[in-house]
Amino acid sequence: MSSTEAPTRVGKRDLATREVKVTDRQEVATRLLASSAKKSYDPMVEVDWDAPVPDHLYGMTPEWSTLYRTSMWDEMSLEQQVTLTKHEVSSIMSTGIWFEMILMQLIVRDMYGKDASTPHFQFALTEIADECRHSIMFARASERFGCPSYLPSRTALELGRIFKAVAVGATAYGAILVAEEILDVMQRDWMKDERVQPIARTTSKIHVLEEARHMRFAREEIVRRSEGLSRAQRSRERVRLAGGAYFITNSLVNPAVYAAAGLDTKRALAAAKSNEHYKAKMRGSASKLMGFLDEVGMVGGPSVNLYKRVNLL
Ligand SMILES: [Fe+2]
Ligand SMILES: [Fe+2]
Repeated sequence: MSSTEAPTRVGKRDLATREVKVTDRQEVATRLLASSAKKSYDPMVEVDWDAPVPDHLYGMTPEWSTLYRTSMWDEMSLEQQVTLTKHEVSSIMSTGIWFEMILMQLIVRDMYGKDASTPHFQFALTEIADECRHSIMFARASERFGCPSYLPSRTALELGRIFKAVAVGATAYGAILVAEEILDVMQRDWMKDERVQPIARTTSKIHVLEEARHMRFAREEIVRRSEGLSRAQRSRERVRLAGGAYFITNSLVNPAVYAAAGLDTKRALAAAKSNEHYKAKMRGSASKLMGFLDEVGMVGGPSVNLYKRVNLL
């Protein structure tokens, strides 16, 4: 699917004939539980939190900075670029915490009253435990970089409060997948980049490894939960999911990061907004995700515009 093309296949074919298969829920969860037992990390132990934070290393891969390839970036000293990327990565991690708190509640609500003896229930709770550790890990990393706990805008915070209380089914798991996939693509770059702070590399590696299971879990649930939607429900859920994706993506980098790096906020925001390099990175990071959501019929109609506005399409 090209970035300019609206996904139009959905709705024009029999959903039952699509390539995405519905698998056995308990079988999948059994495999995911076995994988968690083999490979899970306690970031409080695995990360060397007392290690120095070197002055010359970026907070994240610089190509992921919202200002990379702009004239402002070229005008900045290395020290300023390092400071900006530390604040940008801390903002992304803070947004991660915000969203992990939403998703923990989505999953708790989904599991409420379900059969605790099933692998599905037990993996869902394992995922919540993972997210608890991730949020503490992100909080600690930002703290080590000397960055504040960034929060999304008041509007995003309040809409998130509603979303976590009401979102269900394919929309709930769809929003979970959006946040996890975007972060996953970025963190795969950061974890292997020698120009990046060791703390950002280790925390990214832990997150990538554990999130692979969460993404599998979310994808399977989206396939199952989107199966029986009527046409009206589907169009409503598409817009809700796109709304969630819009606020998650828009909240990644807090405007306050620019002043923290000694930059003019207004000029930096304008430069970031028109940064074609960054837009292309975002579209690239979302291509697999958007292809999947399209495949299960969760993209189409007015939702396409929302995805385009935050460069996911
Ligand atoms: Fe996580
Ligand atoms: Fe996750």
